[in-house]
Amino acid sequence: MSSKGQWTRVDFSRVPYDVFTDPQIYEQENERIFRGPVWNYLCHESELPNVGDFVSTWVGNTRVVVARSRDEGFHAFENSCAHRGAQIVTAVRGNAQRFSCPYHLWTYNLKGELTGVPMAGGVKGKGGMPPCFDKKDHGLNVMRVARFGGLIFGSFSQEAPPLVDYLGPHAVAQIERLLVQRKPKVLGYLRQRIPGNWKLYNENVRDPYHGSLLHQFQVSFGLQQPTMKGGIKLDKDLKNTWNHSIISESDKDNQAIVAQAYEGTGKYNPNMRMADPALTQVPLDLGDGYKTTILSIFPSLIIAQVDNTYAIRHLRPKGTDLVELHLTYLGFESDTPEMTQDKMLTANFIGPAGYISLEDGEALRLVQQGIRHRQPGGSEVLEMGGVGAIEDTDYLSQEISIRGFWSHYHRTMGLGMKEQA
Ligand code: FES
Ligand SMILES: [Fe+2]
Repeated sequence: MSSKGQWTRVDFSRVPYDVFTDPQIYEQENERIFRGPVWNYLCHESELPNVGDFVSTWVGNTRVVVARSRDEGFHAFENSCAHRGAQIVTAVRGNAQRFSCPYHLWTYNLKGELTGVPMAGGVKGKGGMPPCFDKKDHGLNVMRVARFGGLIFGSFSQEAPPLVDYLGPHAVAQIERLLVQRKPKVLGYLRQRIPGNWKLYNENVRDPYHGSLLHQFQVSFGLQQPTMKGGIKLDKDLKNTWNHSIISESDKDNQAIVAQAYEGTGKYNPNMRMADPALTQVPLDLGDGYKTTILSIFPSLIIAQVDNTYAIRHLRPKGTDLVELHLTYLGFESDTPEMTQDKMLTANFIGPAGYISLEDGEALRLVQQGIRHRQPGGSEVLEMGGVGAIEDTDYLSQEISIRGFWSHYHRTMGLGMKEQA
């Protein structure tokens, strides 16, 4: 590893800043993580209802196409021709019988197998492909595909464990709660380009500590408070996190505790009110009391319920200092028109200009700016909630789940440790 910084704590309470800025590390991530023993989120089944439906997506740096074939199978392959590498599919989504590369019209079926090579037999007895050329040897680079709860995942590696094991019991339970109990339908998409490293976003969604601090909207209007009940649950690899918060009636009486938590910041105004509070009064339609649940699955998937907003967030890294966040907003087949309207309203919490999440994008930008010209060798300090063991908590002000992310990142990247006290 070329890093100037070093990993110095086995509990991952220090993270060298180079991981966010070093182009060589970024290239290694594509090889060791996105093409490594992980399951990458590709799309949701409901986006491919018919034979021939396809979507274009990204796995790390790699363009990928996911298609539904005649045998009801889902297939994923690199969007790069087996002939001379051209990008084959340019549409974001659509329906096709086959995929033809624009350059020399090599043609592939919905499984990514090569089915046609123009002029393979020569023209007027001349030219053509050599006798040893066999189309079977020149299909597209296909991924392993696995599905759970309507989510389609792909892996370039044979080493990735069975998908359910990879997800872990908490993720399985949450996917069933959010995406299986009711049949999801896509309400729409948003994309956001955030000028920060993709791992900063992984930190952000595993960081309930910031929830009531960065997001003044949430605190001011009672969506999130430091007094709320909640916690985190991790899978056995510590890579996937489920964090959740529950708001109860008693939180309304906690103003003194909240004011104390903000003491010295000059940021808390208990008298602030919304002129039109409709946005914050949409009833929770799951009826289980969870105000916010964020399920983060290594390396690039987040399934978030924020009040009544349900969204799949997919990270598409674009370099050391840029990530595209692709949001798929979900409603449910069983929703009444009013419920759909409510979901459209609360969608304003999340997204590029969301009342809550615009600040997350800004926080990433500020970190990336802050570390760009920092003195070499620096590292993050992750000690909130304690150091040492990385384990579940029943409280929210913690950075333990971020350390869990880094432990798995470090292992998957095959990095070393120069332990210091
Ligand atoms: S590069 Fe695709 S057919 Fe030649
Ligand atoms: Fe946030």
